[in-house]
Amino acid sequence: MEKREELYAGKAKSVYTTDDPDKLVMLYRNDTSAFDGKKLAQLDRKGMVNNKFNAFIMDKLEQAGIPTHHEQLLSDQESLVKKLDMLPLECVVRNVAAGSICRRLGVEEGTDLTPPTFEFFLKNDDLGDPMVNESHIRSFGWATEEQVAAMKDLTFKVNDVLKTLFRDGGMLLVDYKLEFGMYKGELVLGDEFSPDGCRLWDVETREKLDKDRFRQDLGDVVESYESVGRRLGLDFDA
Ligand code: ADP
Ligand code: TMP
Repeated sequence: MEKREELYAGKAKSVYTTDDPDKLVMLYRNDTSAFDGKKLAQLDRKGMVNNKFNAFIMDKLEQAGIPTHHEQLLSDQESLVKKLDMLPLECVVRNVAAGSICRRLGVEEGTDLTPPTFEFFLKNDDLGDPMVNESHIRSFGWATEEQVAAMKDLTFKVNDVLKTLFRDGGMLLVDYKLEFGMYKGELVLGDEFSPDGCRLWDVETREKLDKDRFRQDLGDVVESYESVGRRLGLDFDA
């Protein structure tokens, strides 16, 4: 496999074409962004940690029957993925209230959400990733009814798998964001799953172990991501 030219650079990752038109190389940079790019920093080791963390989680999801774009780790900061036709939507499931839902609905952080909530957001930094509903998705043609149903179904399946995985490591999966795309007619999980795109709290102390450490200037951001991985049995030096 040969890495060719940069296709696009996002806020945290860059994507490259390869000699295989169906595959891309995803480079996890150390760039860290929050609040739709309003807060930016370079964090040592973050690219490597998120790349390995994501590969570990995607493998677990594949084993549970969830189709993902992940093919293989190529290096510390690079992975080979299937080239997806991305849907411009973010799927968010919340088991516990935190972040924007607290601001929007006036609920207290830490409130249990039973059953978990599901929300769609439009992937558009200029608009601040606004929340959208299924009627908007249909009227603007962002996804078909079938794709909407499949995204919801897969996002909740991910919750079943990962809630248990993190719970076994003494962590609470508070919420997370997933992105999907199409590959040869099939809806496939794309982008990444790492502490950059989810909230994880220690079950006992409720200490924040995810990107809220960066958003809220709590310090030890990458150290915390690594500790999450280690609790799951991941060896970042392997
Ligand atoms: P952002 O676009 O939010 O700044 P990143 O820096 O993570 O995000 O950039 C990665 C980009 O690659 C995102 O736009 C994401 O939608 C896109 N992407 C993720 N997985 C795939 C894939 N398998 N095929 C094509 N594009 C992908
Ligand atoms: P929120 O509380 O800001 O709406 O975010 C909910 C979860 O989804 C949280 O774990 C962060 C993640 N998320 C992203 O990673 N990127 C995004 O653009 C959005 C809207 C949410």
